[in-house]
Amino acid sequence: MASLLITNIHQLVGVRALTTVLRGDQLAELPCIDKAYLLIEDDTIAAFGSMDDLDKSGYRSMASETYDAAGATVLPTWCDSHTHIVFAASREEEFVYKLKGMSYADIAAKGGGILNSARKLNEASEDELFHQAWQRLEELSRLGTGAIEIKSGYGLTVEGELKMLRVIKRLKQRSALDIKATFLGAHTYPTEFKNNHQGYLQQITEHMLPVIARDNLADYIDVFCEEGFFSPEETEHVCKAGMAHGLKPKIHANQLNLSGGTQTGVRLGAISVDHLETMDEDAIQSLAQSNTIGTLLPTAAFFLRMPFQPARALIDAGCAIALASDFNPGSSPSGNMNLVVAMSCIQMKMLPEEAINAATLNGAYAMELGEQLGSITVGKKANLIVTRPIPSLAYLPYAFGSNLIDTVMIKGAWL
Ligand code: NIG
Ligand code: FE
Repeated sequence: MASLLITNIHQLVGVRALTTVLRGDQLAELPCIDKAYLLIEDDTIAAFGSMDDLDKSGYRSMASETYDAAGATVLPTWCDSHTHIVFAASREEEFVYKLKGMSYADIAAKGGGILNSARKLNEASEDELFHQAWQRLEELSRLGTGAIEIKSGYGLTVEGELKMLRVIKRLKQRSALDIKATFLGAHTYPTEFKNNHQGYLQQITEHMLPVIARDNLADYIDVFCEEGFFSPEETEHVCKAGMAHGLKPKIHANQLNLSGGTQTGVRLGAISVDHLETMDEDAIQSLAQSNTIGTLLPTAAFFLRMPFQPARALIDAGCAIALASDFNPGSSPSGNMNLVVAMSCIQMKMLPEEAINAATLNGAYAMELGEQLGSITVGKKANLIVTRPIPSLAYLPYAFGSNLIDTVMIKGAWL
């Protein structure tokens, strides 16, 4: 067995004996040890404590290797529970149209938006999509992401959706990161089904889901519950069909409108409802009284110049909230979780402790990985961010835009 002892950690962040999803006030508690050591055995966290107690612990002589963190801060890697990183092409031309005054709806009406990505994805080979997504995954892991959820939803045809999910399966098999796959066939209605919703819903339930279940291609089912996309009734129909095949719901809700998506997700027992830019008291209360996690995607709000998610109201109401990047070519062309954490503090007034908890432990729970990842806990996987020397934890969101990561460890191995 290989064992590595990390010494002289300025601050070891997110140390917990046992973990649960954090809600309301609990999000502000981020237990840390100053001047700490951390012992790793193979890919797993074996022990940690104060440097003052290291000599009597006997770990110094036990460890096969020692790494002097020399005053760095160590925290669990980011758990990004909402992304769309399998796509065939960026969409910066639409970005420039928008700068010149066109609206999201204008662009969608011209065949832009999700349909633009779908056209390109259907033309791309599986290998090409894999290669591109792999590059993105590599970049994200260097930015500290250690676990990630990836959605389909740019296929919108039986072949295209299955192709995307096969790419995600290959990523799962090849990557050291923990990856969860979500089927988002209900991302938008393809043009040929614009006036035949029933027809596309049947494609999903009769031609996509049975193959996905048979070939074990997804963990979750997602629907874009939004005016002009999928109604709450259609969302429920698709989710129930997915659930009958063993897929739990994680849905896009309340992004552009009070879509009813939050209440629908809660009623279905969704793992998470994601976006939540547009919330009223009823939606907030329904989430607060549920076991569903509210996943906030501040970089999507930023990129679309929308009001940010009401993080403070959600936390005050007692909700469990996670933070994720929504990395996709249309509304969040960045998967940098350091930026997500900074933006949630700067724009949504989350405290640094709340933001880090939401981007680590609660993100892990939003992928049902909370027992393996998201905190410094004995028995959990050794997924670590080692920072450059920083004066305090609040410096991370404060000094937004600086790359403060020195190195990253995934399952006991340095990148
Ligand atoms: O999560 N909201 C729906 N889907 C994506 C954006 C899709 C796109 O424009 O490609 C999102 O923001
Ligand atoms: Fe999304």
